[in-house]
Amino acid sequence: MGYSKFLFKMAQITVLDKTFESYISHDQIDQAIQRIASNLEKDLAEENPLFLVILNGAFMFAGDLFKKLTFPAEISFIKFASYDGTQSSGEVRQLIGLDENIEGRSVVLVEDIVDTGISMEKVLEYLTTKKPKEVRIATLLFKPKSYQKHFKIDYTGLEIPNDFIIGFGLDYNGQARNLKDIYKIVQ
Ligand code: IMP
Ligand code: MG
Repeated sequence: MGYSKFLFKMAQITVLDKTFESYISHDQIDQAIQRIASNLEKDLAEENPLFLVILNGAFMFAGDLFKKLTFPAEISFIKFASYDGTQSSGEVRQLIGLDENIEGRSVVLVEDIVDTGISMEKVLEYLTTKKPKEVRIATLLFKPKSYQKHFKIDYTGLEIPNDFIIGFGLDYNGQARNLKDIYKIVQ
C-alpha cells in the first residue's frame, strides 16, 4: 500500500490518490440517526420488524441505528457489490445472505446511501418475490439529484449534493470506512 496512516491536514484527509474535506460531523450523523430511530418507533414498534442491512457500507449506520431502537426488532445482513471507485457502475451483482423467511413480515432495508437508486431497486425486486408484509427503506444519506427511480424512501437521514463522499462506513476503493465523520471529495 502507498501509505500506512491517513494523512490529516487541516480539515482535509488524503486517501489513496484523492483528497477529501470535512463535510458532516459525527454529531450531525448521530442526530440524523436518532430522528430515523424515533420515526421507526412510531411506525413499527408493534411489528417486530426485520432490519436487513445492505453490506458493506451500511454496517456502521446499522449498528448505531439498532442501538437506538427501544422496541422488539431483529437484524440480519445481505450483500451485493455494485460500486467501484467513485462512479456508480450501474451493474448490480447477485444478492446473497438472506436466510430468513420474510413472508408476512415487516422488513426495513438499511442502506448507507441511495445514489441512482439502481441497487436499491434490485433489492426491492428480489425481496418482493419473497412476499413480505411490507418493505420500508431507511437510508442515512440520499443524493436527490442523482436519483433515477420512483420507489418511496421512508426514512432519510440527510440529503446531500452529488459529491463523492467517504467515512462512516462509506468507502473509496475499500478505504476510509473507519472514519467517524463524513468527508467529501475536493474537486
Ligand atoms: P446506487 O445504486 O447508484 O444508488 O448506489 C448505491 C451504492 O453506491 C451505495 O450503497 C454505496 O455503497 C455506493 N455509493 C453511492 N454514492 C457513494 C459515495 O458518494 N461514496 C461512497 N459510496 C457511494
Ligand atoms: Mg451500500
